[in-house]
Amino acid sequence: GSLLSDKEPNNRLIVVSNRVPSPKGAGGNQGGLAVGVMNALQKADGLWLGWNGEIDGDNNAQLSHYDFDGVRFATFPITEHDHKTYYTGFSNEILWPLFHYRPDKVEYSRESLDGYLRVNQRFARHIKPLVEPDTRVWVHDYHLIPLGYYLRQTSVDAPLGYFLHIPFPPWDVVRILPEYEDLLRYLTSYDLIGLQTEIDLKNLRDCMVMALDARDLGDNVLEVEGRRFKIAAYPISIDVNDAQDLAKKGEQSATGQRLKRSIGDRPLVIGVDRLDYSKGVYKRFQAFERLLENAEHQRGNVVFIQISPPSRTDVHEYAQLRSTLERVAGHVNGRFADYDWTPLRYLNRGYGREAVFGFLRQSRVALLTPLRDGMNLVAKEYVAAQDPEDPGVLIISHLAGASWELKDGALVCNPYDIDGVSDMLEQALAMPLEERKLRWRRMMDVLETNDIHNWSQNFLAELMEMKLANSASQ
Ligand code: F6P
Repeated sequence: GSLLSDKEPNNRLIVVSNRVPSPKGAGGNQGGLAVGVMNALQKADGLWLGWNGEIDGDNNAQLSHYDFDGVRFATFPITEHDHKTYYTGFSNEILWPLFHYRPDKVEYSRESLDGYLRVNQRFARHIKPLVEPDTRVWVHDYHLIPLGYYLRQTSVDAPLGYFLHIPFPPWDVVRILPEYEDLLRYLTSYDLIGLQTEIDLKNLRDCMVMALDARDLGDNVLEVEGRRFKIAAYPISIDVNDAQDLAKKGEQSATGQRLKRSIGDRPLVIGVDRLDYSKGVYKRFQAFERLLENAEHQRGNVVFIQISPPSRTDVHEYAQLRSTLERVAGHVNGRFADYDWTPLRYLNRGYGREAVFGFLRQSRVALLTPLRDGMNLVAKEYVAAQDPEDPGVLIISHLAGASWELKDGALVCNPYDIDGVSDMLEQALAMPLEERKLRWRRMMDVLETNDIHNWSQNFLAELMEMKLANSASQ
């Protein structure tokens, strides 16, 4: 029963991303891409190609093929120098902060740029022999922007799609990057470029017009130097049924029961994010501290559990954030904890998906306050994980992509406004059951109409449409 191949039996699909889900006991710090794409691919007859997460001195290492969790994979290692320049350097010290509107954190170097281009070329070399004329190639995220260009250079004429999982910033931020015009030009090699939200779409369109003099042909189709491509928003989502099953199992599991025993009747607030400065956890801790200052009846009562698995540990900013959060967490507990109550449980590690979904289901409030986030799938996972008879309350930052779809049911906060977030937390903790149910239903309706399967189906259908139009106009 494969959703995509039923429709297009001869149409092969190659998905490409930097990181692929790890078969070595996924530790739970994989981010939205791995989760979303995995769910989509399990239903398709596709191959997923990417970095295997390992460092290897051999620049010519061949692809290893294996099956995992119902998906075929082809992966390869990269060298230490490539890891430093392509992954840590250009992807995570330059593009990541820039695309999250944080130019203050950009550490630009030409060496990083060279590594980025070199590894993208290497991806193209691995992919080229796998592509037949009817193979669709779907490239994911900021690590691989130039890949489409390199594939076209080796005369790959297949439909090429690209999806950006993180925000796309405004033109005036983008042009901080010395090579911003090249980067935008690489994107024009794809037939379809997908973004998370209408804001990201507007920003990319502006850039294409301002930097490359793109002609707007209507219906989201642009033309640059004779090449036509479409840009559109496809908010990524989750597998709702899968999330519900996992949450029920997780709650019943030994881990879920242990959490329950340790909390008792106290209300639980939860945050789950990779340890990343874009997630706003520092200000989130301050908002929680403010709640304990203001709402005396919550002392000895509310428990906040923040799960933050370490991420990108070679990047200086991440190491610094780690010690900042340790200090603030220690400060909050030192100030308010009592002999039988610890207000803040700060967990610097990941848990398996079932355990996390069980935690989400047991939490009265999810407090997700990124300073900027492409989507934030944890917000959607929290909603799907709830017990319909006793659902919890979602507090989501208005700077997360997910807030656009969930705003009619969630409490939408400004993560920079610490007093505001603290007030909202109080409101959430006091919210009556009827209101919680009503709000939850509104959010569930959204998730049920646009789940992960619609997401990949829509994207791939529009990719084919655009490719056909392009071939016809040549
Ligand atoms: O979802 C956004 C994302 O940046 C993915 O591209 C990435 O795989 C994930 O977060 C986790 O980050 P990393 O791969 O650097 O560990």
